Amino acid sequence: MKNDYTIRLETKSDYREVEYLTREAFWNVYRPGCLEHYVLHVLRNDPAFVPELDFVMERGGRIIGHVMYMRSQIQADSGHTIPIMTFGPISIAPDCKRQGYGTILLRHSMEAARKLGAGALAITGSIGFYGKSGFVVASTKGIHYFAEPRSAEVPYFLIRELEPGFLEGVAGTYQDPAGYFVDESAAEAFDAQFSPKEKLKLPGQLA
Ligand SMILES: CC(C)(COP(=O)(O)OP(=O)(O)OC[C@H]1O[C@@H](n2cnc3c(N)ncnc32)[C@H](O)[C@@H]1OP(=O)(O)O)[C@@H](O)C(=O)NCCC(=O)NCCS
Repeated sequence: MKNDYTIRLETKSDYREVEYLTREAFWNVYRPGCLEHYVLHVLRNDPAFVPELDFVMERGGRIIGHVMYMRSQIQADSGHTIPIMTFGPISIAPDCKRQGYGTILLRHSMEAARKLGAGALAITGSIGFYGKSGFVVASTKGIHYFAEPRSAEVPYFLIRELEPGFLEGVAGTYQDPAGYFVDESAAEAFDAQFSPKEKLKLPGQLA
């Protein structure tokens, strides 16, 4: 197990460095360029943002990782609203990826979320990464993603109970908190504050 890092809450003086890290981590991964540094910038002021779960990971005097959480909900078929949480952006510096840091940061933050009372987490992402930390495809548990038909297999929409049995017998639909849907031209304008970086169309991107 690694012991060359520390995890602490983000402070205002970290904001720029963490936005830079987020931009570096996501750049050209899911689309040419990325929106996530702007998403993070906006979400810190969102009422659903959870400041107690806004973590940075440091190693060798620099920030190499970050994750933040948002309160969200499942709209149950029974008519109830079930409060859960989601998280992201989650970022690891490009030169530190695939060395286990993302998993360490994720698990640390999940334990903190559990202690804060979150019963479950939902996330859109890769089962390759999240499956190793206990996430399962949500549709197999009766929780459906708003943007897809209920009959669809949605391998990228994942869920994890933090409190065992929390989602027992629950069927419903999940929608990402509204704050995640940012205006792309505003994101573009925000990105212009950073040093220019080439946008590339690469295989495997989603958009
Ligand atoms: C995704 C991310 C946070 C993972 O952090 P990391 O430190 O690189 O991941 P870890 O080293 O802890 O990975 C553990 C395992 O998860 C799997 N994994 C990691 N990244 C993966 C990816 N992008 N796709 C599929 N599986 C992945 C691998 O099996 C890996 O083990 P291996 O390296 O022995 O094969 C990081 O790579 C990152 O910042 N990526 C860009 C931004 C991003 O995609 N964020 C998540 C959006 S949902």
